[in-house]
Amino acid sequence: MTMPEATTQERDKGMKTRAADVPAHVGVIMDGNGRWAAARGLPRLEGHRRGVEALRATVRAALDFGLDYLTVYSFSVENWSRPIEEVTDLMGLLKRFIRHDLRDLHKAHVRVKIIGAREPLQPDIRALLDEAEDLTRDNDRLTLVVAFNYGSRQEIAGAARAIAHKVAEGLLQPEDINEHLFASYLDTAGIPDPDLIIRTSGEQRLSNFLMWQAAYAEFVFLPMHWPDFNQQAFAAALTEFATRERRFGGVSAAPKKSKFLGGFRP
Ligand code: FPP
Repeated sequence: MTMPEATTQERDKGMKTRAADVPAHVGVIMDGNGRWAAARGLPRLEGHRRGVEALRATVRAALDFGLDYLTVYSFSVENWSRPIEEVTDLMGLLKRFIRHDLRDLHKAHVRVKIIGAREPLQPDIRALLDEAEDLTRDNDRLTLVVAFNYGSRQEIAGAARAIAHKVAEGLLQPEDINEHLFASYLDTAGIPDPDLIIRTSGEQRLSNFLMWQAAYAEFVFLPMHWPDFNQQAFAAALTEFATRERRFGGVSAAPKKSKFLGGFRP
């Protein structure tokens, strides 16, 4: 994957080029690979392969737009219920993505972080995920969060279990538990909540993705299938985001007009 290089000046000064209306953190539910393939009489694997191409383009766009975090839903805990051949294909694509793209991601100063349960994965996949995180740990241009074998309910239950152990051991008091402490036990500890969640393929649901973290996220649902997602579609979603008024439970400020890349609309 060819990534835009940060300029020396950007690197030296830690400069970011994110405009005021551009969200810091975007989550993406990459849906519709199967339908994209079926519509063309192709095997589902071809849809997933093209989905990886769209993912590459999305990372490049996230770098161009200056996002701080991009979280992609690559494999959910529910995806194990798919036919074994498709599960094997998706595992193979993840391996190939990391083997093929890791050096380029590192060169582009992308930090890779994986969320989700790692123990049930094959040892070679676990080793690759560890390698990706270790190699890119100190990068600071964009954090690419890959949700793999991820499920929000499982993540929340795991955090509750870990906190319960601490209370049982006397290391925490029940009164210590608040939303900040709880969030620090999630896989996403230290990562700001997503500002925007994009889902392709016309479905309008969260499907066990970042349910705690998306409490105040804006949602943009696009009719296109994931393999057709590209920089222009991403820009359109950001334009839509820029028109949203985020009140976080407070009161209304002045009405907003989109400033981002004026004109594109989903
Ligand atoms: C949804 O399409 C997509 C997925 C289940 C996986 C997303 C995976 C990729 C984009 C490629 C793999 C990338 C990595 C890094 C592993 P779907 O199969 O649910 O489509 P459908 O709803 O049309 O059947």
